[in-house]
Parts: sequence; structure tokens; C-alpha cells
Amino acid sequence: MRIGGGVPVGALRDRVEAGFRTAVADLAKLVEIPGIAWPAFDPTHLNHSAEAVAGLLRDAGVGDVRIVRGAGQGGRPGGPAVLARKPAAEGRRTVLLYAHHDVQPPGDPELWSAPAFTAVERDGRLWGRGVADDKAGIIMHLASYRALTEVLGTGFGLGVTFFIEGEEESGSPTLDGLLGAHGEELRADVIIVADSGNWQVGVPALTTSLRGLVDGFIEVAPFDHGLHSGTFGGPVLDAVTLLARLIATFHDGDGAVAICGLPAGQNSTDPAADIDEAEFRAQASLPNALHLAGTGSIASRLWNRPALSIIALDAPATAVASNTLLPSARAKFSLRLAPGTNPDTAMEAVRQHVKANAPFGAEVRFIPGSASAPFSAASHDEAPRVALWAMEQAWGVAPVRMGVGGSIPVVEHLAGRFPEAQILITGAEDPGSRAHGPDESVHLGDLQNGILAEALLLAALGNQWRG
Ligand code: BES
Ligand code: MN
Repeated sequence: MRIGGGVPVGALRDRVEAGFRTAVADLAKLVEIPGIAWPAFDPTHLNHSAEAVAGLLRDAGVGDVRIVRGAGQGGRPGGPAVLARKPAAEGRRTVLLYAHHDVQPPGDPELWSAPAFTAVERDGRLWGRGVADDKAGIIMHLASYRALTEVLGTGFGLGVTFFIEGEEESGSPTLDGLLGAHGEELRADVIIVADSGNWQVGVPALTTSLRGLVDGFIEVAPFDHGLHSGTFGGPVLDAVTLLARLIATFHDGDGAVAICGLPAGQNSTDPAADIDEAEFRAQASLPNALHLAGTGSIASRLWNRPALSIIALDAPATAVASNTLLPSARAKFSLRLAPGTNPDTAMEAVRQHVKANAPFGAEVRFIPGSASAPFSAASHDEAPRVALWAMEQAWGVAPVRMGVGGSIPVVEHLAGRFPEAQILITGAEDPGSRAHGPDESVHLGDLQNGILAEALLLAALGNQWRG
């Protein structure tokens, strides 16, 4: 069957357009709920957020809507996920729609142009924490489902399962348990993970590769108590200096990762897709004087190579500094992995590197943290071809197969559990969305096209599989 054969493109386009203002209003209401899944934040908001998502799905006529949780460490329940299902008709296939409703903390309120949890519409965009990452993903699923049922009736045979996670931004700590308890209910032939974005405003993209992520702690403890820096300084180096020397070995002279056993990845993206250096600098607001690290195209550095960052340091604050040689210091590293790298192998590679580079014989402790695998799409699958068709219909512009430097842990969990399922990664972000930063926003034109593309994709998959 020809891709898209029999899909009522015009009718779906009209329904998506007619329902779009409602979708934006729903998105705005979700943005106003500050559901953050980190232990330091009030879980009441996260529960309200899950209830609001569940309410929207119920109102859209999806049956069997439930809030479910995994069991965390020490019996602490995990973040509330929303599970909802329209079962497949006899002999028909099922699509799983994933997004997450928890958001990043807002950070310094001074840096926001308007309060983070007030949805503001301006310049064709909606602004607020989580509006793009990832509440727009929820709205893409919801509004495309509404349009589909309005045009095709509730009797369309495709099974649709919604899985809206509630702790993605805190690293999905209880996802394994949740999938253990509800895995069978999530079984699907195609999985649409709406937690990424488009190539540019006005240019759609399918995300075909993700980097993995491992993190952990490095402690340097050269001696067991603070020493007067006048009496001992010179012959003895302090812990922070030693830690800094160890950290400096992680990169070569170009600033590329210098840890053995972390190869570059293979590519499932468009060979022509690259990111212009000037544009990249503008997106990050980098000063011209700042040199970029690594070599090769910007896209290959972001998508296909490892990246190691130090994301926190435990050492005394400058306000309480004294002339003491510090006996210990601790850093948290975060290492992005190229597609194809096994996270356990990567963790072991960091451990070996740290042990082999212990500065001046100082005691170095390595404490592994969490690990999440990278992803690279299979090139022969049918669903990506249908998704690319749907995007081209919706935007009227050829879509890009792009990589992403970030990580989405649920992808490997689902891929491991359902190896036969075809995984599509979409989303409503664009390079100006500032996910995780102040003044996060989503482009409303792209959101509308994204909803339409998903409705067309679901309709086309339904037809494809009928015949
Ligand atoms: N939506 C992002 C992943 C992403 C990043 C997509 C950049 C497209 C572009 C996701 O919510 C996220 O932030 N993931 C975390 C995962 C971590 C907590 C394990 C990340 O990449 O840091
Ligand atoms: Mn996200």
C-alpha cells in the first residue's frame, strides 16, 4: 500500500486547526502546575500535574485512565505516571504514545522575563517552564488523538496507549519497577516518544539518534585532615588542586574527551544535516573569543562523540575560605555517550582512567552513578518512513533525520522490553526553545504542525496495517 493511502488529510488538517486554540489553552493550564520530580520539591504539584493530564485524557474519551507509580528506593513511591488505553480492535495493532509531565526546576526567577509557571503567549510562541519539554509532547498526543476520533470516530481500529511519565527529569529512578509492573499494558508495535524537537522553526525533524549518559562522583582525599598552608604548602598539594589536575586529564589539547574506550558512534542521521558554527554560537550566546572544543563537524561532536562535563564540585565556599590545605574534594561528572557505546563499558572506562591518573599518588575514590544507553534508529523500519511522509504533509517542507546530544532513558527501557517495536522520536522543541533554561518556549505554528503530523501518522499506520 502507498504510504498515506486513504488518509483524510484535508479533514484532519481542518480538525487540528479547529481544535488548536483548545490545545493551546490545555497546554497553558498544564504549564501553570509546577510539577517537579526532585526530592527537594513539594510532590503535591506533581500529583496535581498527573491528575490534570489524566483529566484531559478522560475528557478526550480515552478509556481506562490510571495514575501509576513505581516503587523507589526505601519504599519511597516514584513520580506519578499516567497510563491510558484505547484497546486495539481484534487483530489490529497498537501504538504507544510517550511524553513526560514533570519539568525541570525553574532556577533563578530573576532570569525569567515573566514568572516561570505563568503561561504567556507572545511572538507566536507560548512561554513557561515545561511548555516545550515536555508538556508540548503531551499536547501533541492528546490533540492528535482528538482530531483522529473526531474525523474517524472512536471505532478506528488502531490501539492507542498513552504513557505520560512523571519523573523523567530526575533520571527516571523508578521506571524499571514501573515497567516491571505495567510492562504488558505498554506492549506496542510502534512507540512515539514526543520528547525531542524539530530541526528549526518551520523545518520538521525525526530524531534518529540520542546520546547515552553516565554519571558519578570522583573524590580525591590525599591526607586525612586540613593542614596549615604556610607550614605544609609547597611540598604538599591540596585536594582541590589534585582533583583539578585529575579532571584536566579527561580532555586532550583540543578539548576532546581523552578517556580510552569511548569511541565515536555510527550515524543514522542525514549525512547533510550539520549545524552552522555561527548559528550554534548564537543559540548558546557564546562570546566570539571563546574557542569551541573538539574537532569535526558540530553535528558530529554533538551527536556522535562523547562529551564529559563536571556538573558539581564539593569544596568549601569562598566565603568561608581559610589558609588550609584541603584534605578532600569531590566532583560529579556527567558523560554523554555516542550511539553504540555500552553504558557499563563506559562507566568502567572512566573508573580505569581515574585510577590510572591518580595525581601524586593521592587516594582517589570512584563512585558510579546512573547509566542510560544511547539510541540509534534502525534504517529499514516502516514506521519512520510513514512518519517522514506525515511531517512532509503537515509542514509542506522536507523533514530532516537528525541526532540529539541529549538522552531519553525511557527509549532504551522500551527498546529492551519490546525489541520488535519501532521507535519514533518526535517533539515540539526547536533550537530556540531553551529547554531547562530560563524563558523556555514553544513555537505555536510548529506545535500545530506537529499535532497534524502525528494525526496523519496514526491514521496512516492504521490504514497500512489494516490492508
Ligand atoms: N527532552 C530531553 C531530551 C532532549 C534533550 C531532547 C535535548 C532533545 C534535545 C529530556 O527531558 C532530558 O532532558 N533528558 C535528560 C536525561 C537525564 C535526566 C537522564 C538529559 O538529557 O539530560
Ligand atoms: Mn524532556
